[in-house]
This record gives sequence, structure tokens and C-alpha cells, in this order.
Amino acid sequence: MANIIDGKLISTQIKDEVRAEVETLSEKGIQPCLAVVLVGDDPASAVYVRNKKKACEYCGIKSLSYELPDQTTEAELLELIDTLNADPSCHGILVQLPLPKHIDEEKVLLRILPQKDVDGFHPYNVGLLSIGNAVLKSCTPAGCIELIKRSGVDIAGKNCVVVGRSNIVGKPVGMLLMAENGTVTTCHSKTKNMSEICSKADILVAAIGKPKFITADMVKEGAVVIDVGINRQENGKLCGDVDFDSVEKKAGYITPVPGGVGPMTIAMLMKNCLTACKAINNIN
Ligand code: GUN
Repeated sequence: MANIIDGKLISTQIKDEVRAEVETLSEKGIQPCLAVVLVGDDPASAVYVRNKKKACEYCGIKSLSYELPDQTTEAELLELIDTLNADPSCHGILVQLPLPKHIDEEKVLLRILPQKDVDGFHPYNVGLLSIGNAVLKSCTPAGCIELIKRSGVDIAGKNCVVVGRSNIVGKPVGMLLMAENGTVTTCHSKTKNMSEICSKADILVAAIGKPKFITADMVKEGAVVIDVGINRQENGKLCGDVDFDSVEKKAGYITPVPGGVGPMTIAMLMKNCLTACKAINNIN
């Protein structure tokens, strides 16, 4: 039976580390501040945003909340971003995705100053990540790396297989594994012999968006399995991209869904807010 990687516990440890540093900063009269922007009334986004604000409160980070109506124009949103970019007391800007269809997401993300891009989605920050110099790393990929490292697993020299090549998870997680000296293979919908490739992985990251796609026959005995998927099943319960019940019997380490990668995204967001605040204030 695999060791279950407890994302809730590890995310709390990270938030506690952030909170301790935020307390130290307060002695210098500095408080990190995150602006959270939500456009429209998508119920899932509203839950994410509420959880992000709650995490800020836990860490001692100030949060500014902008809840804009669905009819907000692109120009109005860009104007708000310009205002937040110019505000020296605001260190991080998070625009919750997805945006309403009439707003160009890419244009909005490009407008956020890279120094305040705590999601790590700006092409400048993606570029830094790809050359191994990232300051603000995208949160979910960085969370995957923390889960592996804090479980005591050394990535260097390991066969790492990432299934999925999205810009927000698959690609950056591959780059971060490479920065840790892993030997990285990325699989996607056109990959041939996917099972064979996966079954050679010491570390397998599943970020496909298909429920229970990774089955036990695709997993090497003792492998570390990180499941980024969050899928709603017909019975209403959540499941990952990994068939947990069968893979758990074979893997060495595995993340559950929920309670694995999920809580890490917000913890890494808090860490990025602290990092952005320190960088803007020239603190190491
Ligand atoms: N929507 C779903 N996940 C995310 C995320 O990590 N950041 C933002 N901004 N929006 C999201």
C-alpha cells in the first residue's frame, strides 16, 4: 500500500511558514497585500475566491476584493488592473479565471505587471520558469514539486512522466521537474505507447482532466503518483485523473483527491504573495 501524501497537512505547513515570515515583515511596517478580482457569478469561481481570501486572512496577508458584474467590459477590467499595477501597497494581482466570454483572457493576463503576477501566468514569468530562474512560479505546478520534495523524495535523476501538456499545469510542471534534475517525458493525447511510457516512471504526474485515466497497469511498483485532476463523478463525488483504489496498491506514494494537490495551489499562492511583496520591497 502506498504512503498517502497529505496535501492538507503540507499546505498548512507552508501557510504557517508564510504566516511566520509575514509576522517578521510587520516589524518593518510592511504587510503583503493581494488584490483578488472576480468577474461574473460563476459559482465555482466564487468558492475559489472565498478560499483565497480566507487563506490570506490565515497568513496575515491583506486582501482587496473586487467583485465585478458579468457585464463588466474588457476596458473596465484593464483599467482596474492598471490602477492596481500602479498602487505600491498592492503586491499581488489575481484575476480569477475563467473570465466571461466577451473578455480576452490573454490580453488581461498580459496587462498584469509580471512582478505582481502571483498566479505565474504571465509569459514573462513562464519564460523565467523555462530558463530555471523563476521568482513567481505558477501555483499548482509548484505545489506538485513541494508535495514530492516534502515527502522526502529526491527528484534528481528520476524518470519523471507528465501526462498532459496544458500551459497552466503540464508544461510548467515538466519544466520544474527538469529544474530539479529529473529526466522528463511529457505525454499527451497524440502520444503512442502511453501505458508503456507511464509504467517506466519513478514519478508520474497526471494532469489530463479525465477521471481515473491512470490505471494500475500504467504504474511502476513503488512509483510516486501525483494526481492534479479534479473531476466530478456521476454520484456527485470528486475523483482525480488516477484510479486511486487500484493504483494505491502499487504506488510508493500517492496524492488523494480531494486533499492532495488541491490545497497546495492556494498555499503556493500565499507564498507567491509573500515573495512578490519581498521582491518589490528589496527584501531577501
Ligand atoms: N481558475 C482555476 N484555477 C485558477 C488559478 O489557479 N488561478 C486563477 N486566477 N484562476 C483559476
